[in-house]
Amino acid sequence: KEIRDELLVFKKSPLYTYRTENKYFPVVGEGSHQAAIIFIGEAPGKNESEQGRPFVGESGKVLDNIITACGWKREDLFITNVVRCRPPENRIPTKDEIKNCDEHLQDIIDLVNPKFILLLGATAATAVLGMPLNLVRGTISDYKDKKVFVTYHPSFALRQGNSAKKQIWEDLQSLIKIMKDFL
Ligand code: URA
Repeated sequence: KEIRDELLVFKKSPLYTYRTENKYFPVVGEGSHQAAIIFIGEAPGKNESEQGRPFVGESGKVLDNIITACGWKREDLFITNVVRCRPPENRIPTKDEIKNCDEHLQDIIDLVNPKFILLLGATAATAVLGMPLNLVRGTISDYKDKKVFVTYHPSFALRQGNSAKKQIWEDLQSLIKIMKDFL
């Protein structure tokens, strides 16, 4: 709640004006504050900004299916994004926008303090690990005291269909195995 209150008046972000003009909500994220894993996507879309909740549009449906297929429950995880506000026309957030949002992303990660982080897609991989998706997808690395795993963004599955879904599924099976060893 504190982070959300701060975001409502966080004018440092260039996305602030677009958000307030459209009466959108900032999307802090949602889920369990005791989650063992935090999912980090790119940015809220229109649906997410209207509701103030992450992944509730088309990509969210794909993500929900992935979560169920992995035997997880959405409410046991924590789901957030690299940036809190929707960029105009759903464009990729710029480096500056990502930098401005970083303090809140760090606050969210610190608050939940999960053992694992799952980065969804290229924007999250670059923002958190500073690496291109193709080099880190399917791999586990260290980020502070946490283990970070990377897979495709659910929107990739929306665009590419079953072959992409299969790849995400395979990635997450490796992650589940790794988590079992660590938890
Ligand atoms: N795409 C994202 O990256 N995040 C959302 O919350 C919704 C769509």
